[in-house]
Amino acid sequence: MTALSSYAATAACLLLLITSLASADNAVIVFNNQAQGRVREQGIQNQISAKVYALTHIAQLLAVDETASEKVQAAQAAYAGHTVLNLLFPWAFYKHDAALKNFTTSLSPQEKAAASQAGRAAGLAVVADRLDDGFDKWVSFTPAPANGPVGAYQFTPNQTYALYPQLANVTTILLPANQSAPSTPPASQFSSKAEIITQPWGISPLTVSSSEYTTELQQVFTLGKKGGTNQTNIDTANFWADGNTTSTVTGHWNQIAQAVIPANISTAEAALLFARLNAAVWDASIVGWGVKYSVLFWRPITAIRQGDGIAANSAFVDANWTPTLATPPHPEYPSGHSISSGAAAGVLANYFGTDEVPFTIGTEFPGLSPRSYSSFSQAVDEVGYSRVVGGIHFNRAVVDGATLGYKVADYIDEYLSKAALAS
Ligand SMILES: *[C@@H]1O[C@H](CO)[C@@H](O)[C@H](O)[C@H]1NC(C)=O
Ligand SMILES: *[C@@H]1O[C@H](CO)[C@@H](O)[C@H](O)[C@H]1NC(C)=O
Ligand SMILES: *[C@@H]1O[C@H](CO)[C@@H](O)[C@H](O)[C@H]1NC(C)=O
Ligand SMILES: *[C@@H]1O[C@H](CO)[C@@H](O)[C@H](O)[C@H]1NC(C)=O
Ligand SMILES: *[C@@H]1O[C@H](CO)[C@@H](O)[C@H](O)[C@H]1NC(C)=O
Ligand SMILES: *[C@@H]1O[C@H](CO)[C@@H](O)[C@H](O)[C@H]1NC(C)=O
Repeated sequence: MTALSSYAATAACLLLLITSLASADNAVIVFNNQAQGRVREQGIQNQISAKVYALTHIAQLLAVDETASEKVQAAQAAYAGHTVLNLLFPWAFYKHDAALKNFTTSLSPQEKAAASQAGRAAGLAVVADRLDDGFDKWVSFTPAPANGPVGAYQFTPNQTYALYPQLANVTTILLPANQSAPSTPPASQFSSKAEIITQPWGISPLTVSSSEYTTELQQVFTLGKKGGTNQTNIDTANFWADGNTTSTVTGHWNQIAQAVIPANISTAEAALLFARLNAAVWDASIVGWGVKYSVLFWRPITAIRQGDGIAANSAFVDANWTPTLATPPHPEYPSGHSISSGAAAGVLANYFGTDEVPFTIGTEFPGLSPRSYSSFSQAVDEVGYSRVVGGIHFNRAVVDGATLGYKVADYIDEYLSKAALAS
């Protein structure tokens, strides 16, 4: 945080700049937008999109030489973004070429060659470093059978596979264990998934027999039912759905970051902020998937259609109940959307030194107007509510998902620096 702490002091001043246009000529923003474009075109799912964004910006962070002129730094970052996106999406090379060209036109041949060398070296290294992160491993996952044990995750109607159980054991981007201090060790240091659930995140799943569960079951039964909730709630569910062919909820938070950063943000500072934001979402997702595939909690559609035999819950059984949103194909607890949102919001709040940064943001869902928020956490809370009124989560999952995201964000902000990444 030290490099960024000067911003805390001027947070109030920055608030005046928030209505200014996003930095359309900043190489970090240009390649953030390129990455969002590829995510939309390919229908990439939220968690994987965070990895795409993180690799792009970590490469930019590593490529930038802060002793060079700003225009050379911009070119270094542009070449790094170009390299990562060409490696991941070679068929879209011409779009990356067009984005890169703008940053090279005013350079001398020597400057151009050096920027190319720095950017390509960083891009290749960052992509190579993540190739063996474990995502390629096949995990043979079998959920509980239909009408299985109370509370146990089973496939929801029409579901044929579960979304990436292997993510639970992927190597995080979090720095290698820093023996000198870390208050929150990286997930890869945990010896078992049970340890991840109980500490140090301070979260715990609902027990079906608890009164809290009855309250939350009633809430999602009533507010999350397709055709049973008001238009305001439906709009909120759709505003944050960020489904297939959008830039995902992580892309949505990248758009929020673009809306709040100062228009004159330097290349190096933008690269650090966007690297942290997206690495935090990816790493938090890995931790979250570890919890999901350990807890294996059932979705509201299963809970309500099957019932649990508990008298207090008997009014909330309905074999035909359908949620407002389609149920995502992975275990319920904790919420992926809230994990991503907490992580992104945590990084942004740390950057500004305050959560209380007002902003206005649109949505890729057709026909909905932009919305205004007085703080990052207000948006995180609304994301959580959107999943409950969407009928796909119990409230506990969205509260705990956000908590987990915020904690990973703090860790990333403390330990993800250019020097640490390069070592
Ligand atoms: C290049 O810069 C021009 C002028 O600022 C802008 O209109 C164009 O969109 C930019 N192209 C890309 C691919 O960023
Ligand atoms: C499952 O698919 C059928 C046939 O396409 C559809 O009618 C039904 O609504 C789907 N169920 C759910 C819960 O999405
Ligand atoms: C992750 O790895 C641990 C240890 O090998 C294993 O027990 C667990 O089942 C794995 N998780 C998933 C979801 O495959
Ligand atoms: C929609 O329902 C929520 C409760 O879920 C309520 O707070 C809100 O006032 C309702 N909005 C309208 C427009 O009826
Ligand atoms: C995503 O959208 C594309 C384009 O509309 C479609 O072809 C594809 O089947 C969708 N994928 C999923 C998982 O819904
Ligand atoms: C950006 O603009 C603000 C307000 O005009 C100024 O205080 C700050 O020094 C500028 N930052 C850079 C990196 O130019």
